[in-house]
Amino acid sequence: MQSTAMSQTPRKILVTSALPYANGPIHIGHLVEYIQTDIWVRFQKMRGHQCIYVCADDAHGTPIMLRARQEGIESEALIARVAEEHKADFAQFNVDFDNYHSTHSEENRICANRIYERNRDKGHISRRTITQAYDPVENMFLPDRFIKGECPKCGAQDQYGDNCEVCGASYSPSELKNPVSAVSGATPVDKESEHYFFRLGDFEEMLKQWTRGGHLQKEVSNKLDEWFNAGLQEWDISRDAPYFGFEIPDHPGKYFYVWLDAPIGYQASFQNLCDRSEGLNFDEFWGKDSDAELYHFIGKDIIYFHALFWPAMLHGADFRTPTAVFSHGFLTVDGQNMSKSRGTFIKARTYLDHLNPEYLRYYFAGKLGSGVEDIYLNLEDFTARINADLVGKVVNIASRCAGFISKRFDGMLSEQIAEPALLQAFIDAGETIAEHYEKREFSRAVREIMALADRANQYIDEKKPWVIAKEEGKDQELQDTCSMGLNLFRLLIGYLRPILPATAEKSEAFLQIDALSWAALKQPLTGHQIAKFEPLMTRIDPKQVEAMTEDSKQDLTKTATAEAKPSGPLADHPIAASIDYDDFAKVDLRVVRIAKAAHVEGADKLLQLTLDLGGETRNVFAGIKSAYAPEDLEGKLTVMVANLAPRKMRFGLSEGMVLAAGPGGKDLFILNPDSGAEPGMKVK
Ligand code: MSP
Ligand code: ZN
Repeated sequence: MQSTAMSQTPRKILVTSALPYANGPIHIGHLVEYIQTDIWVRFQKMRGHQCIYVCADDAHGTPIMLRARQEGIESEALIARVAEEHKADFAQFNVDFDNYHSTHSEENRICANRIYERNRDKGHISRRTITQAYDPVENMFLPDRFIKGECPKCGAQDQYGDNCEVCGASYSPSELKNPVSAVSGATPVDKESEHYFFRLGDFEEMLKQWTRGGHLQKEVSNKLDEWFNAGLQEWDISRDAPYFGFEIPDHPGKYFYVWLDAPIGYQASFQNLCDRSEGLNFDEFWGKDSDAELYHFIGKDIIYFHALFWPAMLHGADFRTPTAVFSHGFLTVDGQNMSKSRGTFIKARTYLDHLNPEYLRYYFAGKLGSGVEDIYLNLEDFTARINADLVGKVVNIASRCAGFISKRFDGMLSEQIAEPALLQAFIDAGETIAEHYEKREFSRAVREIMALADRANQYIDEKKPWVIAKEEGKDQELQDTCSMGLNLFRLLIGYLRPILPATAEKSEAFLQIDALSWAALKQPLTGHQIAKFEPLMTRIDPKQVEAMTEDSKQDLTKTATAEAKPSGPLADHPIAASIDYDDFAKVDLRVVRIAKAAHVEGADKLLQLTLDLGGETRNVFAGIKSAYAPEDLEGKLTVMVANLAPRKMRFGLSEGMVLAAGPGGKDLFILNPDSGAEPGMKVK
């Protein structure tokens, strides 16, 4: 890992963020990563380094294929549409990629084939026949999460893939009783097929060294030890048709598994950029002897792919390995995972409809460090923080000084610096701040910068330009004081520039200066004409945040009713088999009030609900703990199947089933009490 951050020679740096899946919108959880990376890249550029930031959409795989099918369009049409949405979102958040490409591209096909073939020729690919569940109606093999059935241990119905949400048992999908395909509803059959495997074990020594070689955060290296201890398994890199991906060279009907060609998309996006740019050479960055630095920013959920498979694949194909992989934690909103029902599953688009992107960039920066801890977004704190720091402290300095300079001095700054020692202290702080940025300790950089902002405000408070302005013969002092204030402001904005690029640009226009670089900041601004001051940023009104939360809830109703299309990575399963109307008519659906909700000891996913059917009460165990805390549920309405035969579960008798809609996990929705429904009502 490069730690000689302050070296004078320009570095050559290639940076990536993980490639977002092309089947869903960008949300504020994703943005933690893209904002983090963008800040780091902008910082490197300000330091005068050559820093190239590439990304792409991750466009392959079964979920994308099925999602397109559900929408009745070709996969290519789906990924083209989503790519445009993603690019627009990123652009508005000022995430400034040097290139944004797609894994479904000719460059990626070439790069993927090359990595595969080189590994194959060295004997790192093996083949063997495996047996897998197959959907005889859709004629496709079923990934684990597309199979449902009864838990082999407790008999709970409708359990997915390989673990039971009711009793917590783990099993293989072949052990599910009465399994059905989530795609067609048909009973899967076992079918053999030849698969291709990447022999990860061949790289054990290399990987042990690499993962301990300073390329990973300490906590990540430690985690990887567990995987080494468990033994490195061969990795299944092929999938059978139908599949949306690249056919394996010379093996028609066999495709690369999406995760094989996904990281190769980093190379492909860079190749695409090279092809369009003068003087940018692929091998200079990816060749074995490259002296460039290569960094991947990722979330902690995809470490395995980036810290084991990816370096091994690169090494096996005679490419250089990454200088470092930087993992970050997950975003939690108001103390919980993002939730559609609470309106905290906030899409980038919804945020942009209500708030300035610079606010979120600043808030995340204030929370981000170099570790893998989760990041907490508290919406009240968010509002308070922005208003106090950015509007109250930083922008305020400029607005307190600019008026006098315009009105009394024709926009001209003094020839001299009133307080050279104070200015020097601000300049000197630049190196510490730069070190924090370099080490991705953004929250420390922010703290340092805000401490400077306090000093600048203190300076102005002490000098009281508004008082000087009223005194006779003090013009020079007034001009000097305000010029000093604006010089301090300029330094603050320069230091904040990686975080607040749009505000920095506006400030540069106001100060009539070129885009600030770290080096330029050392030179003060004297005898210089500035423009008229325009407000740089406004306060957040808590109503804007409320409106955004409300809109995020409305997003959900739209998806749940009008489109009837689930979204998100887990959303592709429930395309059920059809039933007769008569079968449907037997189901007694009732509106119920959740009178009580409680945790169930020893169950990860269940809550025990006491349901009020308008007189009668029922005890039901519901697997909705991932989405709700008990206290969030009490008093809410939901719909239940009232005539389901009671079932004995490990924790007691369950007398019915509640209906919640959504893709699953943290996104499961029930009704709000103000929906006009009454307990006991029949649902028609
Ligand atoms: N397509 C894969 C990555 C392939 S990289 C060769 C993928 N896509 S993703 O859309 O699910 O996530 C993209 C990135 O966003 C990942 O690094 C992921 O960790 C990050 N995040 C997604 N949700 C997040 C939060 N709620 N919080 C923080 N980061 C999150 O994984
Ligand atoms: Zn079970």
